[in-house]
Amino acid sequence: MAEPTYSRGMAGVIAGETAIATVGQEGHGLTYRGYSIFDLAEHATFEEVAWLLLHGELPTADELAGFKARLLAGRALPKALRHVLEQLPSTSHPMDVLRTGVSALGCLEPEPEPATPDAQQRIAERLIAALPSVLMYWYQFAHHGRQIDTAVEDGSVAGHFLHLLYGHMPDATQQRAVDVSLILYAEHEFNASTFTARITTSTLSDVYSTITGAIGTLRGPLHGGANEAAMALIEPLQNADDAERYIMEALARKDKIMGFGHRVYRVSDPRSDVIKGWAKTLADATGDTRLYPVSERIEAVMRREKDLFPNLDFYSASAYHFLGIPTPLFTPIFVLSRVSGWLAHVFEQRGDNRLIRPSAVYTGPDERAWVPIDQR
Ligand SMILES: CC(C)(COP(=O)(O)OP(=O)(O)OC[C@H]1O[C@@H](n2cnc3c(N)ncnc32)[C@H](O)[C@@H]1OP(=O)(O)O)[C@@H](O)C(=O)NCCC(=O)NCCS
Repeated sequence: MAEPTYSRGMAGVIAGETAIATVGQEGHGLTYRGYSIFDLAEHATFEEVAWLLLHGELPTADELAGFKARLLAGRALPKALRHVLEQLPSTSHPMDVLRTGVSALGCLEPEPEPATPDAQQRIAERLIAALPSVLMYWYQFAHHGRQIDTAVEDGSVAGHFLHLLYGHMPDATQQRAVDVSLILYAEHEFNASTFTARITTSTLSDVYSTITGAIGTLRGPLHGGANEAAMALIEPLQNADDAERYIMEALARKDKIMGFGHRVYRVSDPRSDVIKGWAKTLADATGDTRLYPVSERIEAVMRREKDLFPNLDFYSASAYHFLGIPTPLFTPIFVLSRVSGWLAHVFEQRGDNRLIRPSAVYTGPDERAWVPIDQR
């Protein structure tokens, strides 16, 4: 066995092998199954990307049509799940709702034991199809008292989500903006939530448990929660000068600025350039003269003061805001997308499994004598 090494936060540690994505490794940019994120964001739909992640190859026209038809069929929620969602208060965080919804679905439609490739594919498609329904069924019930029909007939995951949010079909720009955002969020190698999914999978647990755990991990502001935290940062700022003043003060306090920096990327996050373009398009379409200039100034100040760059979450915040998406739904959108990457990792881990169980550097007291309770 190799000499054990230790790195705080496992930074730089190679914790496994993957054929799913490269994240800025030498000679590579961000790629999914070998395809550049820029090509995918320009040419693909989220459904094609989800298939690519799950199967390793781009779908043929027939495969894509079959996949989309099964996603459409998977949008209806069982009555028992709707009932569970109706019990959750409007004050719940939607990430907690998604976590609960996946867990409940795992009780209602459990994965057979032992797991089979067919069953795991079926569950994967069910989860991709049903997550927007879970989120929006609860949201419309808890916030507006509506028991909506989630099985609407629009063809894309992005369109489904926006349709359930708006109560009508989105326009083409709105739909494509969310579609591209889903592509950008779909996969990112051994990030914290994906690693959680792989750890859970490595114990031979079921798919629902892996996704439930991954949602819980994504929730935190150092990971997926950063897009909501970025919105909270920019929302009160009135103009670019106000933004500069605020950021300078925050940096002087040594605050972390949400939506900036990355564990793996050192110079820039390629996904940020793409979503920034969409944030600008949507700002122009909605006549915004505040949040986009505020965001650009924050980017410039962070570059000048800290040599830090925006990650995908920073401009996602204003883009989603321009789409009329309520801030608490930002991180859940990440789930609707990343579930495809998580599932690809579940399958990959299952294909060549070894229990993931690292070791720790012990920093506690030396061995000592037992002290009876009356002598403590
Ligand atoms: C993503 C993140 C967790 C990576 O963390 P990490 O690899 O452990 O990096 P560190 O937190 O050790 O940061 C290294 C240095 O950069 C600084 N830094 C990193 N991100 C920063 C940020 N967003 N704002 C201000 N300073 C930041 C740290 O303070 C630290 O400075 P120091 O060496 O003077 O102490 C971190 O950049 C962060 O907290 N970003 C904000 C949250 C976010 O946007 N998350 C989404 C990631 S996609």
